[in-house]
Amino acid sequence: MREPAPGRDALYAAPLATQLPFRFDAAVADVFQDMISRSVPGYGLTLQMLAVAARRFAQPGSACVDLGCSLAASTLAMRHHVPAGVHLLGVDNSQAMIERARALVARDSAQAPVELRCADILDVELPRASLAALNFTLQFVPLAERAGLLSRIAAALLPGGALVLSEKLAFEDPAEQELLGELHHGFKAQQGYSALEIAQKRNAIENVLVPETLQMHRQRLHEAGFRRVTVWLQCLNFVSLLAIR
Ligand SMILES: C[S@@+](CC[C@H](N)C(=O)[O-])C[C@H]1O[C@@H](n2cnc3c(N)ncnc32)[C@H](O)[C@@H]1O
Repeated sequence: MREPAPGRDALYAAPLATQLPFRFDAAVADVFQDMISRSVPGYGLTLQMLAVAARRFAQPGSACVDLGCSLAASTLAMRHHVPAGVHLLGVDNSQAMIERARALVARDSAQAPVELRCADILDVELPRASLAALNFTLQFVPLAERAGLLSRIAAALLPGGALVLSEKLAFEDPAEQELLGELHHGFKAQQGYSALEIAQKRNAIENVLVPETLQMHRQRLHEAGFRRVTVWLQCLNFVSLLAIR
């Protein structure tokens, strides 16, 4: 097999003797931009929508926070569109991700101050914020911790502030679950992943990424204190919700 191009995700291309649970380690961090772009339909548009949210919701004198920031893609999407006087905080508990994110932020041309912290989003003290991004991260948080995290985010947001929550979805109807799962695999195949890569990645991520239904997300966001919850983007079994405090 030929060497993949640098940055190209080929982590599951060869047959694996032992299948370890998926982790956000250095090997994943090295190819993460390619991995998420080719695995999550609508990912690029989610980032563009975050820029729209930054223009609409970011308030001078407050923070925009990116929880589970990985390579700071969401942080940078907001950074280019916030007004003066806004600072950004990105948090991730993967040291490998934070190191690479710091290098990417250092090369970025926008001016708003950015702090990147290697910490657990379940422990970190949240600043007064006008916009929070939780993009494809809640699905990795233990189920029992999800409501508490959303309540803390709601409490940290200024009145009129917003949370962008993006997630993989599960469906109650088994036929809908199967159809959208199949179409998602079709999307990944179209992005150049082989059947072996798709199967090995699915096995590795099962029980690590635990998706929930749209109804569950809506209900929990309301219970956490968000007064308006709107789906503003959905592509197959991936959704982005805008929740306003
Ligand atoms: C799918 S990635 C997020 C992608 C990113 N938000 C983006 O838009 O490009 C999930 C990230 O959440 C981080 N993560 C998962 N659980 C976490 C936790 N409890 N505390 C901090 N980071 C966490 C992982 O290390 C990983 O980098």
